[in-house]
Amino acid sequence: MTIENSPPVRHIPLKLRLKRLLPRSLFGRTLLIFVVPTFIMLAAATYVFFDRHWYTVEQRMTHALAGDTAFIVDLLQKSNNVESANEVVRLASQKMDLSVTFAPGMSLPEPHSVRGPIAVMLRHALNESLSDPFVLDMTYAPETIGIKVGAPEGVYTILSPERRVYTPTTQVFILWMTGSSILLTTIALVFMRNQIRPIRRLAEAAEAIGKSREVPWFKLEGSSEVRQAGAALMIMRDRLKRQIVQRTTMLAGVSHDLRTPLTRMRLQIELMGASAETEELASDISEMEEMLNAYLAFARGEEEEAAAAVDLAEFLGEIVASARRQNPDVTLNAAPGMEIILRRNAMRRCVSNLIGNALRYGSRADVAAFIRDNAVTITIDDNGPGIAPALREEVFRPFTRIDESRNPATGGVGLGLTIARDIARFHGGDVILEDSPLAGRNGPGLRARVWLPV
Ligand SMILES: Nc1ncnc2c1ncn2[C@@H]1O[C@H](COP(=O)(O)OP(=O)(O)OP(=O)(O)O)[C@@H](O)[C@H]1O
Ligand SMILES: [Mg+2]
Repeated sequence: MTIENSPPVRHIPLKLRLKRLLPRSLFGRTLLIFVVPTFIMLAAATYVFFDRHWYTVEQRMTHALAGDTAFIVDLLQKSNNVESANEVVRLASQKMDLSVTFAPGMSLPEPHSVRGPIAVMLRHALNESLSDPFVLDMTYAPETIGIKVGAPEGVYTILSPERRVYTPTTQVFILWMTGSSILLTTIALVFMRNQIRPIRRLAEAAEAIGKSREVPWFKLEGSSEVRQAGAALMIMRDRLKRQIVQRTTMLAGVSHDLRTPLTRMRLQIELMGASAETEELASDISEMEEMLNAYLAFARGEEEEAAAAVDLAEFLGEIVASARRQNPDVTLNAAPGMEIILRRNAMRRCVSNLIGNALRYGSRADVAAFIRDNAVTITIDDNGPGIAPALREEVFRPFTRIDESRNPATGGVGLGLTIARDIARFHGGDVILEDSPLAGRNGPGLRARVWLPV
């Protein structure tokens, strides 16, 4: 990526921006998959309903009212006596639900401003069926439509109940649509929750296995795919456990069995009497014995130990206190209240191995711990000769020691780092070697960083 030419405003591609808007959890995504089509369907249905059904029905209804109005006005104009006019008015009220009055000699009032799609349709229909001018009045009485027709002889007022032009299906339709989609979404939500719970449990179990924590055999539930994954995970967990046990047993067995011939050899050398050659042989044998002892200790350390919650500052405090008995120049910087689940004895071995190295190769050790981004970091800094970056992976190999420390007086057997990393990895974390902030007169120093997932 070129830095110099990049524009000042960072451009985020549309695809990425959309992705950020989308929910991350399976639950959110499934909900979206369900809700979006439902609402598209709803919108389409609403559109079709209003465009086709509602419009057609309203048009028919307004035309019917306009036709009735024109018919009554025509009949009244043609009736030549009061009786027949009254008869028309009576029939209109009885058969058409319209109340009709006549005000002779009057003229049309000023038109009210009437709005709304139905009023527009009604006016349109009246324009088509009436030859006389007319005025629409929706304020006559509640739920009543007033039509005043201005004939030369006077004003005819026709009052119609609103229900003659309003179709109630609109409300029913909207209620039905929203009601049914709320119901459907609720049902989907409940079912989905039940489907996602086993997946979440599976993820938690896999995470715990990654940190070598105890995972009880959990009830397999959910869809067949989730059950299958769960069963596979449990089988994997058992195989991992078996493998660890196998490795430890073999290690312990080999170390133990090799000690017997070594002891025999030592006895034989002692019988041969002291000479330059036997001295060398004896020192080699002691070194091998030391290695085997270290291996045995390592193997024993892996015995089943349950992981438990530990206050980090307190835990490190104990280790530092016992290191101080050897060298008082050990500092600790860890805020109280950091809780972490770990195997106490194994982790103590890991950290004290690293502090031991710091004090063996340097003259002071600074220990610090903090939690960030769901991980605990423990750093152990020293002011010793350090390790060249190229060798920082190499020293983790069993029995690897850097030349200067080959001197048996200063160096150990070369298992300390191997064991420390093994323990950290067993907890799902790692040990990494870095530059030390304590670089100074004594040397560049070394920082050992242990990180563990919380
Ligand atoms: N803090 C350190 N500063 C400089 N060199 C180090 C440091 N820690 C480890 N080393 C180098 O890495 C090598 C391997 O370390 P490791 O702890 O595995 O073995 P060891 O200290 O030699 O023996 P032991 O098994 O007793 O710990 C050491 O021999 C040493 O050369
Ligand atoms: Mg060591």
